[in-house]
Amino acid sequence: MTYLVTDNCIKCKHTDCVSVCPVDCFYEADNFLAINPDECIDCGVCVPECPEDAIVADYELQPETREKWDEINRRVSDWNVNIVDQIDPLADHKEFSGLPNKYETFGIIPSSILPMNR
Ligand code: SF4
Ligand code: F3S
Repeated sequence: MTYLVTDNCIKCKHTDCVSVCPVDCFYEADNFLAINPDECIDCGVCVPECPEDAIVADYELQPETREKWDEINRRVSDWNVNIVDQIDPLADHKEFSGLPNKYETFGIIPSSILPMNR
């Protein structure tokens, strides 16, 4: 199993989750954070940290939804912009909190920060 970041994170990106992860397995996109499923040790401590309830155990999701978010979390992790320190949430996060289907509406935008600059 693994934990996965899901739709509620998009365009909010509070980043409270990264500061508690014992294995630093969060990766950054411009409008989303992902968990690398191959690095997550399934400790679950990030789950209550997220103000948007965006982090879920993969087995809690229906198969189709699980496959979708597993692929998205892996794709963003492959971009390899590791984030280990909390930063400010996105400025307009309140506006997008709890909106449904944000992935379908906004997609995931790669971080403009290149890994070699971090
Ligand atoms: Fe990190 Fe644990 Fe959350 Fe996995 S479940 S992303 S290891 S804090
Ligand atoms: Fe996203 Fe929640 Fe972390 S909004 S950045 S999963 S604290």
